[in-house]
Amino acid sequence: MSESSPGGPERRARELRRTLRHHSYLYYVRDQPEISDERFDELFRELRALEEAHPELVTPDSPTQRVGAEPLDAFETIEHTAPMLSLDSSADVEPLERFDERMRKALGEDVGYVVEPKLDGASIELVYESGRFSRAVTRGDGMRGEGVTANIRTIHSVPLRLRAADREVPPLLALRAEVIMRVGDFEALNARLLESDRPPFANPRNAAAGSLRQLDPRITAARPLDIYVYDILAIDGRPPSTQRATLEALREWGLPVNERCRPAADVEEILAFQAEIEEGRDDLEYEIDGIVIKLDDIAARDEVGETSHHPRWAFAFKFPPRKEVTRLLHIFPSVGRTGVVTPIAFMRPVELGGVTVSRANLHNREEVARKDIREGDRVRVQRAGDVIPQVLERIEEPDRERAKPWVMPAECPSCGTVLEPRGPYTFCPNLFACPAQLAGRIQHLGSRHALDIEGLGEETANLLVRQGVIRRVPDLFELKAAKLMELEGFAEKSATNLVEAIDKARTTELARFIYGLGIPEVGVTVARELASHFLSFEAFLEACRPAAGETLEDVDGETLQVDGEALQEVDGIGPRVAEEITAFLTRGEVWKVVKQLHSCIDPEPPPRAGDTLAGLRIVLTGGIESMSRSEAGKKLEALGAKVTSSVSKQTSYVVAGENPGRKLERAQALGVEILDEAGLLKLLSGGPEALSAPDAAPASDAAPAPGAAGDAPETDGS
Ligand code: IVH
Repeated sequence: MSESSPGGPERRARELRRTLRHHSYLYYVRDQPEISDERFDELFRELRALEEAHPELVTPDSPTQRVGAEPLDAFETIEHTAPMLSLDSSADVEPLERFDERMRKALGEDVGYVVEPKLDGASIELVYESGRFSRAVTRGDGMRGEGVTANIRTIHSVPLRLRAADREVPPLLALRAEVIMRVGDFEALNARLLESDRPPFANPRNAAAGSLRQLDPRITAARPLDIYVYDILAIDGRPPSTQRATLEALREWGLPVNERCRPAADVEEILAFQAEIEEGRDDLEYEIDGIVIKLDDIAARDEVGETSHHPRWAFAFKFPPRKEVTRLLHIFPSVGRTGVVTPIAFMRPVELGGVTVSRANLHNREEVARKDIREGDRVRVQRAGDVIPQVLERIEEPDRERAKPWVMPAECPSCGTVLEPRGPYTFCPNLFACPAQLAGRIQHLGSRHALDIEGLGEETANLLVRQGVIRRVPDLFELKAAKLMELEGFAEKSATNLVEAIDKARTTELARFIYGLGIPEVGVTVARELASHFLSFEAFLEACRPAAGETLEDVDGETLQVDGEALQEVDGIGPRVAEEITAFLTRGEVWKVVKQLHSCIDPEPPPRAGDTLAGLRIVLTGGIESMSRSEAGKKLEALGAKVTSSVSKQTSYVVAGENPGRKLERAQALGVEILDEAGLLKLLSGGPEALSAPDAAPASDAAPAPGAAGDAPETDGS
């Protein structure tokens, strides 16, 4: 057939696209091709020729458009449709059993699970709008990641258009998937890289992640990537009610779903699945690092909720880490940012499940003594959690003379200060002048979740400190390009770039600044909580201030007793953490450095505009007609409310939709105010005041969910 066929080129192009899409699906997703590769290529060439002759006929989801996007200058940072959480995990059976017990306790004896292989690749969000592939975002920090749409488009098993044959396609569908590289493809890629003198990838996961982060989609297109979709992150419309139904829906939409997923009723069946998968692990074409157990009932997931790190309804049961034997060459005490001196083992490099390992953390002096590990010993190492190498034990060599037991030095290897033992750990008390600690603090301040200063990595921080360019943390903000250019490894461009990056960091988010200070116990999440509670750095410091009447000059260097009560009002901060924070900040020297840093930096409070619901804690239960529950949650959060999964006395409102669960009973028992859907819409449009205002037509900008009208509502799993 040609352009002159009935209906003309436009019709023919449409027909070709439909045919090619169908055969791509059969080939890449189902692995059941129905036509020869030659026939496929022929059709493809015909479409390409047609589109070249009539460029106006090209559509973004045409099979010819998988490659063709221009290289990017940088990736755009994009917020996820819903947070991409991590997984709670363990390689031991007990934590798995406890997970199962918790689920039974919360939901009753008839809980059901779906078990899936845990794919060891790169996690990604895929978004389809009206059935068309619209964007892909790397996991990043879980809240936002890098837009890699053009690169994902090059993966043939990713449909550019969802199949609408068997199931209605929702207006918005955000999915979670894993991008993988098959082991054989990975090896071939590494061989190619080595041949052209380029560094190979350490393992298929790195290869997949690295290939996704290419600015030029043509490079990604040449990398043999594949993908499996396993979760709905957000959907406009009614979500499937179980994980089984989710996987089925994903299949019907033409998405690649791992065929090994299956239901499991209890721990016994979970362990059977694990044993089966582990046995076949080496025959699988792709790498897996365990299995994932998920509650099957989606509504029940809302019952058990999630932490800021992981959902409580899922658990990763990891395979036991891979072990190897090698020789320990040397033990070196390394001083970290917080002054802890850690013995590090340097070993003869060894391959552990695809990664070359030569260093391992020996934790502390008691650990070294307990395992009786000495320089020169043969040792068994493993990759715990498949990432961090550990020395498990030493291996007896009866005929070999051993070195003397290793001892922690008395003085800091970096600054010579006398070290202090604290329990099994050893500290260098020279908090701010010890070069190793100073370099660690500088590096932390510039790190990705802190001020994110490009070009200020470990090596540069060490260099700046070693060369005496930085003697105290605030010196960072006095750096001059001319001075940097005197240092080895800096040219004019890199020097000005670094100074500019530091300058840019003078304005930053409050949470990043607080995190960057490296306060004990203050990670990214706590820093965020502190920032949104105190809203200004001054207010935060005020809450940590030494007791009334005392000024810091009086107590230089002394630790003051502060009760930290104001801190304990912050979500997630208890007495112990409050104590750690104040004890650290109120050390005279720390206080001074922090104040000085603050005078160089202008931290912005978290955005407040339109925060009509700030300070409110809201729980959603039951089905809502006009939007999905996750959408409602997002709208509430966008207005400053905190949406939580369990009802407590702190809960401001429980929104109870159709068929609400036990949360409604609990709210009634606790006397928490209950809203219906109309109340929710009022809250969204006018804040809490609107609830007491006389009835007006509820304003909602939510499009009605498809099929919402006649369908059974979402239930709450009880
Ligand atoms: S579910 C919030 N299912 O494992 C729950 N994750 O270590 C989302 N992963 O970041 C995760 N296979 O990238 C889920 N079948 C699977 C998975 C899987 C691999 C990854 C995922 C996650 C990581 C956590």
